[in-house]
Amino acid sequence: MKVLSVVGARPQLVKLAPIAAAFASTDHQHVIVHTGQHYDADLSDVFFSGLGIPDPDVHLGIGSGSHGIQTGGVLAAMDPVLAAERPDWVLVYGDTNSTLAGALSAVKMHLPVAHLEAGLRSFNRRMPEEHNRILTDHAADLLLAPTEEAMRHLSDEGLAERSVLAGDVMVDVCLRIRDKILSGAQAAPALPDGIDPHAPYLLATLHRPDNTDSPERLDALLGALAALPLPVALLAHPRLTARAEQHGIDLNRGSLHAGRPLPYAGLIAAVLGSSGVVTDSGGLQKEAFLLDRVCTTIRPETEWVETLEGGWNQLVPNPYEFSPAEWAGIATRPAPATPRGLPYGDGKAAQRVVEFLERHKR
Ligand code: UD1
Repeated sequence: MKVLSVVGARPQLVKLAPIAAAFASTDHQHVIVHTGQHYDADLSDVFFSGLGIPDPDVHLGIGSGSHGIQTGGVLAAMDPVLAAERPDWVLVYGDTNSTLAGALSAVKMHLPVAHLEAGLRSFNRRMPEEHNRILTDHAADLLLAPTEEAMRHLSDEGLAERSVLAGDVMVDVCLRIRDKILSGAQAAPALPDGIDPHAPYLLATLHRPDNTDSPERLDALLGALAALPLPVALLAHPRLTARAEQHGIDLNRGSLHAGRPLPYAGLIAAVLGSSGVVTDSGGLQKEAFLLDRVCTTIRPETEWVETLEGGWNQLVPNPYEFSPAEWAGIATRPAPATPRGLPYGDGKAAQRVVEFLERHKR
């Protein structure tokens, strides 16, 4: 069997790691196509080297641009690649512009498409990810759902027959790296200047267009983070850095200490060293949950609703609307005592994905 993975943005590289490792232990051929949506070393190269992912077989070099330019660029560039490779499956990951373009290009060439992380919904049509994931789910032939909740969404949209519960491959990689860190086999993460890794701190990220594109909102959110009673390590995505520079907004003030994004193992170590996480990232909400850290999510909704149970994750779209004491109480709340199940699976999802692809191959 020949499987062609299309990836392009940071969270997809994390998911690619366990999938590439699972294929490496089989006779199947696994071709990796990197669209180049993310091109900074911090967002791309360090994930290949740090997670032991083989170099991409094809690099499309698409880069940044408007949604149309980026999605259309990948779509056009995929034609000759798919024509040359003719894989048994095109495997697309998550909800980015690279995902949608990869799925669409395969469908138009009559190649079977499998969607990893199918069935997630925010029900927020303002998010580009929501358009991407819905369109990809409806185009794909095999929907690899990470959770029971995702299976329910797919069923509600009439897609039950194409859906299977695979579990979440992010659990596979998160737990593997956590164990490596706890065994002492990993160097300390490069936290932003001003953060003492041995004293309590909060870990923060902010990159969604709805949180970064309006200068007033961005300034208010950063003001809320800066007012917290613990030092806040802000790992700044290039979009955040670009918007802050564009509008003359300071990322270093009060409790806030900004630094570069971390490689995956560094990020996991930074979560383990933290007292809690404040973020608008989907992946980081789940990583906090898997690593027993409370998470405060700067969004009105989450796709990962399981993290909300028992208060491990709390949605706070507008932290500046609370009094400083209330907001501080939320962001620094202690970990709940509530036991959690395994809503994201057992850490063997990648192996299951390979088995599903074998079983459903035409
Ligand atoms: C994309 C995904 C989002 C995912 C995120 C993870 C879409 C619609 N969104 O958002 O779902 O959570 O990746 O990080 O696909 N930039 C750089 N260097 C890079 C990449 C981007 O400087 O290597 C800057 C550019 O100014 C670019 C901006 O970041 O315009 C946004 O990048 P883009 O890939 O369009 O979307 P993300 O915000 O990263």
